[in-house]
Amino acid sequence: MDLARILNYRRAVRIYDRGRQLDTEKVKRCLELATLAPNSYNMQLWEFYHVTQPELLAKLSKACLDQTAVSTASQIVVFVARQDLHKKRAKSVLDFETGNIQRNSPEERQEKRIKDRKLYYGMVMPFLYTHFLGVIGLIRILITGVIGIFRPIFRQVSENDMRVVVHKSCALSAQTFMIAMANEEYDTCPLEGLDSKQVKKILKLPSGAEINMVISCGIRKGNEGIWGERYRVPFEEVYRQL
Ligand SMILES: Cc1cc2nc3c(=O)[nH]c(=O)nc-3n(C[C@H](O)[C@H](O)[C@H](O)COP(=O)(O)O)c2cc1C
Repeated sequence: MDLARILNYRRAVRIYDRGRQLDTEKVKRCLELATLAPNSYNMQLWEFYHVTQPELLAKLSKACLDQTAVSTASQIVVFVARQDLHKKRAKSVLDFETGNIQRNSPEERQEKRIKDRKLYYGMVMPFLYTHFLGVIGLIRILITGVIGIFRPIFRQVSENDMRVVVHKSCALSAQTFMIAMANEEYDTCPLEGLDSKQVKKILKLPSGAEINMVISCGIRKGNEGIWGERYRVPFEEVYRQL
């Protein structure tokens, strides 16, 4: 399929054909493609829980308020935002980037570039992603506020802002996954109508993990699978050319 056809094919499917199963390996490959999504600072603060076991699917269905998009799904993927893994991810990006610079940068520039990356992933990232009762966010706001008097600076640094940063990137991986699934003519439905506390408990997630989106998967049940025609507000209402 070409991209326009894939995007038109993808719909939020609310009823799946229970008689048609998905190839688990294909779904896994779609998740591998999801990791190619652009993401903030390349920190990749996401995890994907690919659920295929019937008893876990039943539990998740309950936690997702028994919506038919979940109760009829043959597989479910839970996209989890992992801000709590920022130190681990920063270290692995720094390790990779150090090698990347050594392999691909001109020798005379390597030292400075590696030093910059160390500053970035060794100090700036931990400072941005650390949180403690809003206090560290307030310190960041003060610092950026002062620097911002003299030059443009990234200002979305409160602890809530940083949660948005992490969830935004995770949602991009979720969208990439849904597009990859549509390319296989597999259907999905993204959901946030759920009890996140219960979902975390079912998946045995640590307290620092946050549910970004649950995506049910299956193959649509004919016309019944979709709630009628697709609605979008007129394009002119959302498009501004400047
Ligand atoms: C973040 C997010 C949360 C959603 N939550 C639900 C949900 O809980 N239940 C549901 O049936 N659909 C849910 N949807 C699907 C939307 O209702 C659907 O994408 C929208 O109506 C547009 O339809 P389309 O995806 O077929 O183009 C959600 C979509 C997104 C992006």
